[in-house]
Amino acid sequence: MSAAVANKVSGAAKHLKTRFTELCGIDYPIVQGGMMWIGRAELAAAVSNAGGLGILTALTQPTPDALRKEIERCRSMTNKPFGVNLTILPSMTPPPYAEYRKAIIDSGIKIVETAGHNPQEHVADFKANGIIVVHKCTAVRHALSAERMGVDAISIDGFECAGHPGEDDIGGLVLIPAAADKVKIPMIASGGFGDGRGLVAALALGADGINMGTRFCATVEAPIHDRAKQLLVSNDERGTNLIFRSLKNTARVGKNSVSDKVVELLKKPDAKFEDVAHLVKGAQGRVLLENGDLDAGLIWAGQIQGLIRDIPTVAELMERIVTEATDIIQKRLPGFVA
Ligand SMILES: Cc1cc2nc3c(=O)[nH]c(=O)nc-3n(C[C@H](O)[C@H](O)[C@H](O)COP(=O)(O)O)c2cc1C
Repeated sequence: MSAAVANKVSGAAKHLKTRFTELCGIDYPIVQGGMMWIGRAELAAAVSNAGGLGILTALTQPTPDALRKEIERCRSMTNKPFGVNLTILPSMTPPPYAEYRKAIIDSGIKIVETAGHNPQEHVADFKANGIIVVHKCTAVRHALSAERMGVDAISIDGFECAGHPGEDDIGGLVLIPAAADKVKIPMIASGGFGDGRGLVAALALGADGINMGTRFCATVEAPIHDRAKQLLVSNDERGTNLIFRSLKNTARVGKNSVSDKVVELLKKPDAKFEDVAHLVKGAQGRVLLENGDLDAGLIWAGQIQGLIRDIPTVAELMERIVTEATDIIQKRLPGFVA
């Protein structure tokens, strides 16, 4: 039996159909967002095999050639659609974005998630090559600008999310319908999702599906140390810190000794990035994830930690979400209508 068949969600509705599943050719409107150091073939393939959309993270690979190999590795693990995330962040020494982009295009990838600043040049090239572009952003105005740029779908991150929630502090309950009222193309909701209740809520708020990061980190297939997964289980919804607020580059990370220290250092009136640079290096976060040393660096995690209570396989998690969502839609909600 192929891996694709073995890992398929069983016992749940065969499809949950939305504009997003139709666009991407997937069974369930559940996406695994790009995640530095975690968005590797094991996880992306597991999500796609279970009927969602798995996404490889381009910059987790040290070179564009390594990304080409990772794409091939993912293809050997699934025959379902999967995507690649390209995150464009301001950097002192930017990675060779155009070369990563070329690796994605040359490899025949059909779906890309872009995130970060000024994706224009990348979007234009991906679109010229017939690739579906899902742009992830944190504000209605940015979603509209990406729509004008010609992307095919929006992924909108509320304030609950792990990573960069932006500076507007609008939670999903308002951000998602505010965006849904204006965005015409398919849109998935991101930030704070982890179960069937969240999926149904997102659909009710006008989204065409959900994107999850933190929840997928606490699965068997996530390629990180078990102690890092257990931290996500033991933390509750208050287990995050917002760092870099004063630098106008807010990031939501898991609460640990390192992020506590960063918050404390940046509280000082003249604090600069240089004061915390030694604590926030990506390489140290990688040590935390790979060696399970929970005080080695930062771990990106969102408020959804409050609803993470176990470490299932991706297929088990997907089946649970789809079954719960179906039950709510078919059994709980109709009962309210007199
Ligand atoms: C460990 C981790 C690393 C992440 N790295 C990236 C990244 O490199 N690029 C990106 O666009 N988003 C990144 N994200 C954000 C996720 O793709 C997703 O938007 C976010 O996690 C959604 O919020 P949630 O964690 O509440 O589900 C990361 C999230 C996590 C948890």
